[in-house]
Amino acid sequence: MLRTNLPARPRIPLPPVLAAASLWRRAPAEPCLPSVLDAGKARLVTSGRIAIALALRELGVQAGDAVLVPAYHSPSMIPPVLHAGASPVFYRLRADTSVDLDDVAAKLTPQVKVLMVTHYFGFLQDLSALRAFCDAHGLLLLEDCAHAFFGAHGGRPVGAWGDAAAASSMKFYPVYEGGALVSARRTLDNVALRAAGAGFEAKAALATLESGFAYGRLPLLRALLAPPLWLKGALRRLRDGRRNAPAPAAAALAPASSDSSFDFDPAWLDKRSSWLSRLLLRRLPAASIVALRRARYLRLQAAVAGLPGVRPLFPSLPDGVCPWMFPLLVDDPERLFDEVRAAGVPVTRFARPLWPGVDDSVCAVSSMLSTRVLAFPCHQELHEDELEWMCATLRAILQA
Ligand SMILES: Cc1ncc(COP(=O)(O)O)c(C=O)c1O
Repeated sequence: MLRTNLPARPRIPLPPVLAAASLWRRAPAEPCLPSVLDAGKARLVTSGRIAIALALRELGVQAGDAVLVPAYHSPSMIPPVLHAGASPVFYRLRADTSVDLDDVAAKLTPQVKVLMVTHYFGFLQDLSALRAFCDAHGLLLLEDCAHAFFGAHGGRPVGAWGDAAAASSMKFYPVYEGGALVSARRTLDNVALRAAGAGFEAKAALATLESGFAYGRLPLLRALLAPPLWLKGALRRLRDGRRNAPAPAAAALAPASSDSSFDFDPAWLDKRSSWLSRLLLRRLPAASIVALRRARYLRLQAAVAGLPGVRPLFPSLPDGVCPWMFPLLVDDPERLFDEVRAAGVPVTRFARPLWPGVDDSVCAVSSMLSTRVLAFPCHQELHEDELEWMCATLRAILQA
């Protein structure tokens, strides 16, 4: 059985991991796309879902209101809506992942206050049309930029068309935690954040370094930190041994959102992102992040071109896009998913599972995408040989 032979973790990193090269990388000559942080006022928080919750609060969403949410969604997008006391109303998408505005119009009620739209995999929605629709119907627009930290539409940065925007820096930067609430239309004066404490800062810094170490990055620093890290592990083993069970202590120090969980913990609503995450957001050259991601996306696209049973979800890579990942539409997703994972290739299935009750009857396109899209990393922190290996392995599996 393939599932029992899966490697503990992929051979190369799924999210960006910190390396010495991340810090010294030269920015390319071509002009950079703006970031969501250029869109307006910004508050750096610990995750995208916290930013969504703060955006809903800022937009005045209250108990009894309704928020239009795409049927193709991350399960982490819904708890912030419920936290506001509002109900999610799921709307349909078209096959190209654009918002089905006819369906949205059919779902408008006096309770609906906000239209939340997602820029899937970094590919921007038609923001001018969405803005016009919201203005015509008295709706507030929330741009979910979790997959689109960089990008531009109609000469404006991603995030600038909405009344508010929420971003997830963890998906674009080699950081353990991070999200952003942004608004071009509000002052965000009511969003006060405070430091989450020394334990959180230490956890965020150590986790950032350790995910780099796990993939052979920062070897010198790893050697230097080996004795204290060994001591930390030994102490944890001793403590777990005494308790006869692993302790969930780390969860108190840091948000679960950084550990592949969909949980929403309101305790993080008033917490600022860690010092290290904020530093890396300022220091890492955005232009090279954008250029490398675009180039790697195109390499993956070329690697699978013409192969049977697959096609890129998006036919081309428009100028204003900085991709989160490379999404591939697959005829036999279960088989390919098992095979690529068994080979150690990092892969993710966005929007799987969908929120309970969201099925074919709500939106056939969304359930199809949730089943058939496999996404592969195209981030800036992949080494050239890692990218080469991933492309070759994918090709070999698809040609077999
Ligand atoms: C489309 C989308 N929106 C929002 C989120 C929430 O972001 P975070 O994980 O930073 O809380 C995610 C997370 O995967 C997402 O994919």
